[in-house]
Amino acid sequence: MTTAPDGSPVEVYTLFPPLGEAEIVHGVLPAGAEVLELGCGAGRIAHRLVALGHPVVGVDESPDMLAHLDGVEAVLGRIGEVRLGRRFGGVLLAAHLVNTPDGAERHGMLAAAARHLAADGRLVVQWHPPSWFETAADGQGGAAGPVRTSLRDVRRHGGLLSATVDYRVGDRSWSHPFTARRLSEADLRSALDAAGLVHDRWLTADRTWFSARPQSSKSSSSRAR
Ligand SMILES: C[S@@+](CC[C@H](N)C(=O)[O-])C[C@H]1O[C@@H](n2cnc3c(N)ncnc32)[C@H](O)[C@@H]1O
Repeated sequence: MTTAPDGSPVEVYTLFPPLGEAEIVHGVLPAGAEVLELGCGAGRIAHRLVALGHPVVGVDESPDMLAHLDGVEAVLGRIGEVRLGRRFGGVLLAAHLVNTPDGAERHGMLAAAARHLAADGRLVVQWHPPSWFETAADGQGGAAGPVRTSLRDVRRHGGLLSATVDYRVGDRSWSHPFTARRLSEADLRSALDAAGLVHDRWLTADRTWFSARPQSSKSSSSRAR
């Protein structure tokens, strides 16, 4: 079994179908805007973004994940360290990476997003909102394409939640233990502020997706679209 350094099973991410994430990003950006995906994995979202007309550069620290990219420019490296010297209309940080337990790593990710965002660009983020930390429970899960998921060993300690996701496809199975830090909306806004970003708007009714923009740019409601 091959896993990325963060524990994500590579094969699972080649089997997981896109679940509308690219459409959320597409809805925020101008047609054809170039996207930088931070933590792109095997390209589950990136490939769909390309199909929607967005050239994509994908950054990941796992060469095994990047090997599955097709039609996406691959950059091997840690998100916090990436310096491409280019700016993008959109930067995507999905998969709740912003809930990393490590505050310095979170700052590094948001600062990397900020230094690659065009002045009128948008960062699109998927996070665990505070309510998820109260409701996550053993046995939660479901099916996505051929992949069945199930959460177990949920444990709350301080501001952290640790658990294991089990993945099953037919008679094959994988496990991914993880730990996430609960961030209040105030914590989130202050982390964005420290990276030179400002919250822009919520993109889904459950507040699991939001956009952010450079502090000097116009808000979504005031800019011409
Ligand atoms: C759960 S997967 C999600 C991949 C993709 N965004 C998706 O939704 O299909 C998380 C990916 O982020 C990558 N990753 C996590 N932390 C990273 C870091 N600090 N720098 C680079 N890649 C990272 C992992 O290697 C993995 O491929």
